[in-house]
Amino acid sequence: MIRKRDHVEIALGGGVETGAARWGDIKLVSSAIPNFDLGEVDLRTEFLGSKLDAPLMIAGMTGGYQGAKKINQNLSRAAEAMGIGFGLGSQKVAMKDSSMRETYPAAGPLIVANVGLTDLKKLSREDLTEMCSMVNAHALAIHINPLQEVIQPEGGWGKWSIDPLNGFHLPTIAKETGSGMSRGVALKLKELGFSALDISGVGGTSFALIESIRAEKAGAEKNAVFGRTFSDWGIPTPASIVEADVGLPTIASGWIRNGIQIACSLALGAHICSAAKPFLEPALAGWKKVVEEIERLEEELKIALFLLGKRKPSELSFEDLVIVGDTKSWLEWRNLR
Ligand SMILES: Cc1cc2nc3c(=O)[nH]c(=O)nc-3n(C[C@H](O)[C@H](O)[C@H](O)COP(=O)(O)O)c2cc1C
Repeated sequence: MIRKRDHVEIALGGGVETGAARWGDIKLVSSAIPNFDLGEVDLRTEFLGSKLDAPLMIAGMTGGYQGAKKINQNLSRAAEAMGIGFGLGSQKVAMKDSSMRETYPAAGPLIVANVGLTDLKKLSREDLTEMCSMVNAHALAIHINPLQEVIQPEGGWGKWSIDPLNGFHLPTIAKETGSGMSRGVALKLKELGFSALDISGVGGTSFALIESIRAEKAGAEKNAVFGRTFSDWGIPTPASIVEADVGLPTIASGWIRNGIQIACSLALGAHICSAAKPFLEPALAGWKKVVEEIERLEEELKIALFLLGKRKPSELSFEDLVIVGDTKSWLEWRNLR
């Protein structure tokens, strides 16, 4: 069993996205009398000191088995060509087995290394430094995945410590993996010293469903049932962007599938957006297919900005939104608006 390969294969098989993000609750107020050309919309953005050509990133997915090399090569080549961020999947395997390092090729203006929160207690500051230099990282993401761990037949959580991160030389990103972040968690992560948050809300890829399918194949029927029960556990992406607005740079992810959702995320308070699963199939077909997907998202974002009378992403704000339905109730109930 190679867990990281299973995740990619199951994700490619489909049926692992819940669509429960409630984007329909977020309406952008059209301002369709822009006094400039679409071509003047400028997506350039700075994030954690890196200059990006658009407020976009390919979220961390893979590495650690031979087939991952091609995926990361194509993803990172496209990220570099398009001037956007690129995240690696967990590098735990590369720290155990140095022959796997080559499966984490990386490139681009913002390369983000990745390891789990619960792995930190087994790693020293030097290990983390090595992990980052292995991929020429500009930042290190620490993924938080308790839901996945409890559904996984071989999973585990337990006590964690961020000691090896204290005073780390690169920016650190606390990253959820599909359950979103509450205000309380975001404040705790800020207090712990993280430089940025990736909220990864519920609605996109569900690791409960991925692990449920894995469990079923392994004959662990109880885990398979738990995975289905908890398939849409978490905070929907738009609500989580507001929950996690605690004054740190934020990445919105989880069912970000088009440029309108990116515009909504930025208006809700995120600084950049990322997506994982939509890039997986293109990555197997070649880096130009990944470029096509990035171009689509960017062009849609430009059109949305144009129709809102904005020349750049940083001009978006809460004033451009109407929030209805469940998300309105959520934010009111939580006293977040
Ligand atoms: C196949 C696959 C593998 C993933 N592996 C990791 C990982 O190793 N580390 C991590 O932080 N997130 C991982 N993720 C989670 C994504 O980075 C992202 O947070 C989540 O999939 C939500 O985005 P999406 O709805 O666009 O897929 C993985 C996602 C997928 C689809």
